Amino acid sequence: METVILAAGKGTRMKSKLPKVLHKVCGKEMLQHVIDAAKSAGSTREVVIIGNGAELVKEKISDVEFVLQAEQLGTGHAVLCAKNNFENSTGTLMILCGDTPLIDGELLKKFSAAHENSNAAATVLTAEMPDATGYGRIIRESDGSLKKIVEHKDATDEEKKISEVNAGIYCFDVKKLFDALTKVKNDNAQGEYYLPDVLTILKSAGEKISAYTAEDYTQTLGINSRVQLAEAEKILRQKKNISLMESGVTIIDPATTFIDSEVEVGQDTIIYPNTFIEGKTKIGENCSIGPNSRFFDMIVGDNVQAQFCYCHESEICNDVILGPYVHIRPGSKIFPKVKIGNFVEVKNSNIGEGSKLPHLQYLGDTDMGSGCNIGCGTITVNYDGKKKFRTTIGDNVFVGCNSNLVAPVTLENNSYVGAGSTITENVPEKNLAIARARQKNITGWKDKRN
Ligand code: UD1
Ligand code: CA
Repeated sequence: METVILAAGKGTRMKSKLPKVLHKVCGKEMLQHVIDAAKSAGSTREVVIIGNGAELVKEKISDVEFVLQAEQLGTGHAVLCAKNNFENSTGTLMILCGDTPLIDGELLKKFSAAHENSNAAATVLTAEMPDATGYGRIIRESDGSLKKIVEHKDATDEEKKISEVNAGIYCFDVKKLFDALTKVKNDNAQGEYYLPDVLTILKSAGEKISAYTAEDYTQTLGINSRVQLAEAEKILRQKKNISLMESGVTIIDPATTFIDSEVEVGQDTIIYPNTFIEGKTKIGENCSIGPNSRFFDMIVGDNVQAQFCYCHESEICNDVILGPYVHIRPGSKIFPKVKIGNFVEVKNSNIGEGSKLPHLQYLGDTDMGSGCNIGCGTITVNYDGKKKFRTTIGDNVFVGCNSNLVAPVTLENNSYVGAGSTITENVPEKNLAIARARQKNITGWKDKRN
């Protein structure tokens, strides 16, 4: 089975500068959802019709073929643009729309199997929509067989009452499809070449056309507006949460837990409310994540505890404790058993095993060994206004409170820094560095002042 995915339309109703099919649902482009569903249903080749924002679509989407529909003259015209790509094809061509992101591979598999078993030239996927506004309606003959599809804008008041809609998903005999497509006309309310008209053309040529109804209408929802986008997001999020719970993850409050499609979470991890787990994040087993946390493109090991944290594009190893109020910024690796908490920012740094950053630190561009204890208020001074420099800290280093480490600088293994120091030179192994003015007590100062 080969697949064509229609993604050239303007998406006028989205009121967006971004092509509609690149809007994300649960962190993944609508078009990518559809491509993934096609691949998982067994499609061996995906041809995506692009037009509006074509360059952007090509940038974001990979592992498919693209065909340009320079002018968007309708869904039928869009498919016709790919005619040459299928010259040597035989068998089933599945057609999908880039704006139905909730469709899954299981349904497409059943649907295409039903088509192939029916010997029909064309099969359309239909659904009973609670609100059919905007969709093409399925008109059936008195014997229940498929008669035709009427677009909402072309439908009579009587036809608009029909709740069975065209999902915009079809299986065709590829040869018969392209023969019939050349006969589609644009004499309708929108002046467009409608793909669904192919069905009537095939039918009048004596071919069998058939309809397959999806059990779960939500899978066939088409996204034309931001309101529908939010509805799709909610449905998919619920499904994601349910599938994680079914695989052994505890989600305290699914209504306030936002987990993207591609995220993986291990067994017995507990997710607390108001938590966002986004992008390609992978979280291990037995973790406790949240409340009020956001993870984006993170790799997280097992037994990690993180509350009130924002962590992105970094790695956190096993048995780390984070939070409250920790910001882990891109390019960081937090090694096992590290503790970071209470208003700490770490950027582009390696924090070695068992090291402690307990409160109020900024560590940027730092390579820290294991077993270090970094005092409250320590800051790496990594930027001279033009360039960034790295700070190197060995193993078992102790930095006293409120110290500045002016990079580039190295604190060797087992070295110490006295509280309140501004360190500008390397500290050798086992040395204590103190870099602050000596205290002076002035006897009787108050009496003299009066
Ligand atoms: C279409 C169907 C309608 C169905 C609905 C399901 C037609 C005429 N109507 O309506 O029966 O109920 O989908 O969601 O097919 N596109 C192109 N080139 C074009 C026009 C559209 O690539 O020239 C693409 C769009 O990018 C979109 C898809 O085709 O991904 C569907 O187009 P859209 O305008 O959203 O069609 P609907 O009005 O939703
Ligand atoms: Ca649509």
